[in-house]
This record gives sequence, C-alpha cells and structure tokens, in this order.
Amino acid sequence: MKYFENYSLKDLNTFGVESFASSFYSFENVYELIDSCHPSKDPFVLGGGSNILLLNDIDKEVWSYDVKGIEVIKENSDHVLVEVQGGEVWHDLVLWTIDENFGGLENLALIPGKVGAAPIQNIGAYGVELKDVLHCVHCINRKTGLPLTFFNDSCEFGYRDSIFKRKCKDTFVITSIVLKLSKPDYHIINDTYGAIGKVLEEKKINRTPTIKEISKAVIDIRSSKLPDPNKIGNAGSFFKNPIIDVSQFVLLKKSFENIASYPVSDKKVKIPAGWLIDQAGWKGKRIGHVGCYENQALVITSDGKASGKEIFDFSTQVINSVYSKYGIQLEREVNMVK
Ligand code: EPU
Repeated sequence: MKYFENYSLKDLNTFGVESFASSFYSFENVYELIDSCHPSKDPFVLGGGSNILLLNDIDKEVWSYDVKGIEVIKENSDHVLVEVQGGEVWHDLVLWTIDENFGGLENLALIPGKVGAAPIQNIGAYGVELKDVLHCVHCINRKTGLPLTFFNDSCEFGYRDSIFKRKCKDTFVITSIVLKLSKPDYHIINDTYGAIGKVLEEKKINRTPTIKEISKAVIDIRSSKLPDPNKIGNAGSFFKNPIIDVSQFVLLKKSFENIASYPVSDKKVKIPAGWLIDQAGWKGKRIGHVGCYENQALVITSDGKASGKEIFDFSTQVINSVYSKYGIQLEREVNMVK
C-alpha cells in the first residue's frame, strides 16, 4: 500500500483541477483495502478521475484501488467469463478483448477511466452499454470490509445509472467485474449507430464488420469529436441527454422544427443535450479558463488552469441558458465532489 499526506490530485482528474487530499491511499491488493475499512470512515473512492469535478480540497481519506489483472475464469464453446480487476484501465481491457477476439466491448473503445468505475454509471456509447455484457460486480463494503457480489439483475442499471449511484451510493469499493463475452462465431455486431455506418462506408467495408473494425471506427469517431483528456482538460459528456414527455416534445417541435430526438418509449423522448447547448450558442465559447468544446457541445473543457468552481459556474450558465430557451433542465452527468 502507498500512503501520502496532503497529496495533489491534479494529475488524477482529467479536468486537471488542483485539489489536495489530506490523506491518500493506493491499495495494491484486496487485503490492504479490507484492513482499511472501518465503520467510522467515509472515504472518497477515486477511479480514473475521468467523470468527476473536484470543487474543493478533500479533507478525508481518498482511496484508489489500483489492483490490475484480467483472467478468463470460465468458458464454453460460445462464450467466456472474464474477471477484470478494478484498477485496470478500461481502454486497455477493450484492446485486450479485441486481441483475444472476444466480442462485446468493441463499441465501448476509448472511454476514459478505470474498470472499477464502469458499472457505477453504466458506461455506454454507440448503441452498447456495460449492462449488455456485465455478468456480476464484486465489491467490498467500505465500513465492514465484507465482500458482496451483485449480479447484473440486482445492479438496477439504467441510462448512465445504477444502484451504485442511488441506494448503494458511497457504500462499496468495486474490486472486480465479470464480463460475459462472445467467442468468434458468436459475435453480435452492433453497427446501428449512424456514425459507425458512415465510417465503415468510407472504409468500403460492405460485409458484416469484425469487432476490430467496429472498435477502429469507434476510435476514429471519438478522436474526431471528443478532446483527448491528455491534451485538453475534460470529463467527456458533462451533461446527460434529457428525457422529456412526448407532450412537451410536440410543443417544442412547433417552435423548433429541427429539434433532434430519439424515441425512448410511447411517452418519453430523449433529446441530445449537445444539440440544445449548440443551438443555445455555446459551442466553441470560452469564459476565462473554461470552454464549450468546438466539435461536441456536450463537453466542457478546461485549459488546465481552471478551478472546480469556475467549471461548475460555467456549467450553471449553460444549464440556465438551455432552460430559458427550451424549458428543459439539463442534469450534470459528471459527479460533483464537494
Ligand atoms: N449534436 C449537435 N451539436 C453538438 C453535439 C451533438 O447538434 O455539438 C446533436 C446532433 O444531432 C447529433 C446528436 O446531437 O446527431 C448526438 O450526438 P452524438 O452522436 O455525438 O452523441 P451524444 O448524444 O451527444 C452520447 C453519449 C456519449 C457517447 C455518444 C455515442 C451521453 C450523455 N453522451 O453523446 O458519451 O459517446 O452518445 O454513443 O449520453 C460520455 O458519456 O462521456 C460520452 C462521451
């Protein structure tokens, strides 16, 4: 275990916000984690720092679960169960599955962050969500040190949502996940997302694409639309895509003919927040050290000098301006750490 006092988190959050942890623990095996669990503690558990906004210094223990490892734990002729430790980098895992020709994660390429954080918001992109391939989640209770396993059905997954954001918020450390991935003849290719089809067409791939081709297409799309957090501070989509009633959508459509939308159910419609923010005039706009990304309005950027408060205030201005134009209240997707 590594332990530091008054530890800078600037390099451990993708916004590059300066914030100090009064005490910082990096766990290198599960026993060190279990030993640190105690009913009196209320630690902040840091993942890859790619979906948080640090608003202040953190005056409590910060825990980082840094155990790595990828292992096939069971297989039959059509599928494998793969256990992945929480400290693995998500994209490294995706590349490993492509190399092994195990299908299921190819649409989720290049998502920043660590494996342990992936179930919390049910990461998703290009028509696939983690819940589609997740078998179970192994956790340790932060207060008791006791292990618990959540099978897919009990994770209460939704759009960018799970039990770990609600009933079980701040209760567990996710130590590993088990994924059910397909063997070569059983891959289910998902190329329904418009942008993927376009890239495949450009590459003149007219047959069913391989998982490697899908992952390459996703990497191309993400690299062209989303800023690289190693170069420009950001945390991916800053807001969730709002889901509104069809009745509100019908009214909006009268005033804003071109409003983009995706059907969710008979009664609900999802509106791309990027469209709303773009149409409200924010795309490419900067205030001080904070900006709205020029290629995807859903992303808020920092030049590395912005404080958490400056980024938060910028996001509040975006929320207020979208609300006054469309009557839609945007919700932050990034977690605010107070
Ligand atoms: N749009 C604009 N202007 C913009 C951005 C988007 O008009 O500046 C409109 C366009 O109509 C576009 C539509 O929004 O067709 C959708 O845009 P895009 O395909 O880029 O997807 P998104 O809805 O903005 C979501 C996820 C992304 C994920 C992509 C692809 C959320 C909050 N975001 O973005 O996830 O990569 O779909 O599946 O659901 C993330 O969570 O950090 C993330 C990047």
